[in-house]
Amino acid sequence: MDGYTPMTSFGRDESLRYDAEDTRGDEAQAVAFLAKLAGGRDALEFAVGTGRIALPLAAAGVSVDGIEMSPHMVERMREKPGGDRIAVTMGDMAQVGTGRTYGLVYLVYNTIGNLLTQDDQVRCFENAARHLTADGVFVVECLVPTAAQRVGRQFVDAEHVGVDYVVLDVCRYDPVSQILDESHVRISPSGITLGPIRVRLAAPPEFDLMARLAGLSLRHRWGGWDQEPFTQDSQRHVSVYERSS
Ligand SMILES: C[S@@+](CC[C@H](N)C(=O)[O-])C[C@H]1O[C@@H](n2cnc3c(N)ncnc32)[C@H](O)[C@@H]1O
Repeated sequence: MDGYTPMTSFGRDESLRYDAEDTRGDEAQAVAFLAKLAGGRDALEFAVGTGRIALPLAAAGVSVDGIEMSPHMVERMREKPGGDRIAVTMGDMAQVGTGRTYGLVYLVYNTIGNLLTQDDQVRCFENAARHLTADGVFVVECLVPTAAQRVGRQFVDAEHVGVDYVVLDVCRYDPVSQILDESHVRISPSGITLGPIRVRLAAPPEFDLMARLAGLSLRHRWGGWDQEPFTQDSQRHVSVYERSS
């Protein structure tokens, strides 16, 4: 996708659409899982966005800070109840620091993939490790990639088929760079909108190696927020990393 930058996906217009179109429906389960893991300790969300998880987690009694690159996404969070109470450090989650440590650092909704090189993803693990207390954990939630197995490595999935609108997921995958170029194309009587995003896909074992490079190791891997077993059929993983002993 020529001219793509992360702000293509998370600029002002996209931030206004984000909560209306992008709420996944897993918020309650995610918050229950993360609150239990935090166990009364403070948390840091990498790529906190509009506070989809941070706000209900804070409402559940966990003190949450965030790191975020897009001022527009943070603006949306500030408009919501409790949104002024999340301290956000602006910048790249692979690089910037908040100046303190946490019992829980988490990065959800496939967002590790927004870092477009393996080096940057490793830096993100290293940055997470820098923010952990000695007994802290880093949680990564991400889809298990399947694009490499799709015929021709380009495909269109029907994401929503409704009476009044459809959403098509138009994708092309490059196995050399592991980059997936994707656009969520919404077609309705009022017109067509595009939702382009570029992500770098990695399988769980690659993340485990990144963690090792950062001095972390896998404590648990689940198939979802309800601690479903992770199996060969799992479509996503919730991976919990701790400091290597
Ligand atoms: C899919 S949204 C997820 C937001 C939030 N974590 C959630 O679950 O709703 C991805 C977020 O990552 C942010 N982002 C992308 N790359 C980033 C980076 N390198 N550093 C910090 N934030 C980043 C985007 O601005 C956007 O807010």
